[in-house]
Amino acid sequence: MSNQKNQLPGWAIFPAALVLIIGILVGVYNKIFSKESTAIQYKEVAGVLKVEAKLDLVIPPRTNDAIAGGEKLYSQVCAACHGQDLKGGVGPNLIDNEWRNPPGKETHLFKLVWNGIPNGNPPMPAKGGRSDLTSEQIWQILYYISSKNKNIEKDAVPNQ
Ligand code: HEC
Repeated sequence: MSNQKNQLPGWAIFPAALVLIIGILVGVYNKIFSKESTAIQYKEVAGVLKVEAKLDLVIPPRTNDAIAGGEKLYSQVCAACHGQDLKGGVGPNLIDNEWRNPPGKETHLFKLVWNGIPNGNPPMPAKGGRSDLTSEQIWQILYYISSKNKNIEKDAVPNQ
């Protein structure tokens, strides 16, 4: 009884442990991905704090092969909603210069495709619903779209 006033309540261990675990996770992710990526996201999913590393800074060279690969992937994943001719369908036209989610530059469009457009009308699923698409494949698709739409600002800086 004599010490009771100085003791922390038992539940205090949970926030303390959570802070410690998050600290360790952030440290480890920073260490592993420091060269590749500076973007680390925190997401609250069903009350659980999730640390997500984004490797979106791996940008492939803009070669003819990359563009051809992007065309194939576009047909398989994106054409159903944006049209084989990129002129739109359920999703908007991608070869005009009107953007529901501006600006029309590659780095911004990458983020839209990677994350999807959850607030869209209708929403667009992340990666067009193909969750196994890599960042490199999405860049290839964007190089293909840019090759068809000269209005898009080519601000991607390929990794050396
Ligand atoms: C299930 C349908 C669907 C698929 C598949 C899909 N999209 Fe979309 N996309 C949409 C819709 C709907 C919007 C518009 C959302 C809004 O209202 O802002 C959109 C918006 C976009 C935009 C922004 C256009 C603007 O005007 O702001 C880009 C860029 C885009 N999609 C690229 C892609 C690419 C690349 C793929 C393939 C990897 C893809 N989409 C697959 C439905 C789709």
